[in-house]
Amino acid sequence: MRQSQRGARLAIARARCQSARVNNDAAPARPRRFLPSGPLRGTIRVPGDKSISHRSIMLGALAVGETRVSGLLEGEDVLATAAAMRAMGASVERLGDGEWSVHGVGVGALLQPQAPLDMGNSGTSTRLLMGVVASHTITVQFVGDASLSGRPMGRVIEPLSQMGAAFEASEGGRLPLTLRGVWPAVPIEYRLPVASAQVKSAVLLAGLNTAGITTVIEPVPTRDHSERMLRGFGADLTVEEVGGANGLERIIRIRGEAELKPQTIEVPGDPSSAAFFIVAALVVPGSELLIENVGLNPTRAGIVTVLRQMGGSIEELNRREVGGEPVADLLVKHSALRGIEVDPALAPSMIDEFPVLFVAASLAQGTTVTSGLDELRVKESDRLSAMAAALTGAGARVTEQHDGLIIEGTGGEQLRGSANSRTKTHLDHRIAMSMAIAGLASRDGVEVDDTRPIATSFPVFEALLDGLSP
Ligand code: S3P
Repeated sequence: MRQSQRGARLAIARARCQSARVNNDAAPARPRRFLPSGPLRGTIRVPGDKSISHRSIMLGALAVGETRVSGLLEGEDVLATAAAMRAMGASVERLGDGEWSVHGVGVGALLQPQAPLDMGNSGTSTRLLMGVVASHTITVQFVGDASLSGRPMGRVIEPLSQMGAAFEASEGGRLPLTLRGVWPAVPIEYRLPVASAQVKSAVLLAGLNTAGITTVIEPVPTRDHSERMLRGFGADLTVEEVGGANGLERIIRIRGEAELKPQTIEVPGDPSSAAFFIVAALVVPGSELLIENVGLNPTRAGIVTVLRQMGGSIEELNRREVGGEPVADLLVKHSALRGIEVDPALAPSMIDEFPVLFVAASLAQGTTVTSGLDELRVKESDRLSAMAAALTGAGARVTEQHDGLIIEGTGGEQLRGSANSRTKTHLDHRIAMSMAIAGLASRDGVEVDDTRPIATSFPVFEALLDGLSP
C-alpha cells in the first residue's frame, strides 16, 4: 500500500516535472553572436560565490534565529535553494541587492513540503538538500530540468541509504526521485569514492541531525566551504589530515545533533565567475582588467595557478579575509600564453573552470594536455564533448580523449571558425559563457545557441561583458 502511494506520488512528481520541462522548452531560446572585442579595460566586481551562497541559505534555515547574508548570488540555482528552504518552513527573504534575511527553524525541525522541490538546473541544491532531508522525518520529491534529470544521484543515494534514508529514484539513480528521511539516522564513516564536495557536504549535512559522530574521509581534497561554514555556525566539526596512499587524506568528523547559531555572512565574489573575465583579459590584446573581491580559497584557486603556469599575468592586490574566506582583487593583463600539461592533481580545485581553460588553451602557443577529468562528463553537460565540439566549430584544434582534451593553440591568432557554426550549450551555463569569451578572441564572432542558462550562476554576465567590450 505504502509502496503504491509512493508510486503515485512519484508519478505526480514526474508529471509536474514534465510540464515544467514543456514550459521551459516553450520559452524561446536566446541565441547570441559574441563578437570580436577591442581591449578590455576597467574595474569590475563579480557576484557572490555560488557554493557559499547555497550553504549560507541552507545553514541559516537550520539555525534558530535570524541569519543575515550580504553579497548573495541571486542566480536561479541559489533561488531554487531559497525556495526549497521556504517550502520546508524557513523564512527566506530578500531585503535588497544581495541582502537576505533567513529565519531558521532549527536542526531537526524542517517541515514536510507540500509539493515537489523543483531544483531547476542545480546539482548543488539537489545533492546538498538530499543530505539535509535524509535525517529528517519528511518525504521529499526532487525534480529538475532536463540537464539535472540526466545527472547521477547514486553517489549521494549510496551513503544516505547507509544512514537509513529510503529512495525511489528514476532509472540510473536519477531525478525525479523521492527521498524518505529517517530519524534517528545512523552515523556512518564514509570514504568518498569520487572527489566531490557535493557528496562530502551531503553526508556532513545529514550528520547534523544524526546523534553521534558522522565521518567523511576525503582521499583528495575538494572545496571546503561546508566545513568552514558549519564551524562558523557552531557545529562541532573537526578536520584531521593523515598520510594516505596518495598523499594527505582529510578525515572530517561532525557531531550531531547540532544546534546551529545564526550568523552574519558576507559572501565573497565567485572565483568561477571571475575566471571568465580573467581569461578574457588574458586573451584579448591590450586588455588590463581589475576584478575586485575574488574568493581565493586554496580549494578553488587552481585556475589562477594554471593560468600563471601558462604565462598569464595575474596579480593579487589587497589580500584580505571576507566571510572566513581568503579574498583579493586581481589585476589581469593581456599575456602571451603557452600550452602546458595540466597537473591532474589540480583538477578538484578548478573543476568548474576547465571549459574556460580550454578557451585559453585554444589561443596559447603550443599544446595543452589535460587528463583525469572524467568528472567533467557528468556536470550540467558532458563538458569534454561539448567543449571539444564547440571549440572545433570556432576554429580551434582539439582532440577529445576519454578523460581530457588535447588542444593545439593558435599562438595568439584569432580563432577562425566557419561562419555558420553554432555552439550547442546543452543547458550548461559554463559552456555558454566560455564560448562567449572565445567569441571575443575570434575573427568573425562565435554564435551561442542559447544564453538563457547563464542566469543559473551569473545573471549579470552579459551586462558586465557588454559594459567592457568596446
Ligand atoms: C560544488 C561542487 C562541485 C562543483 C559544483 C559546486 C559545491 O561539484 O562542480 O559546481 O558547491 O559543492 P562536485 O561535488 O560534483 O565536484
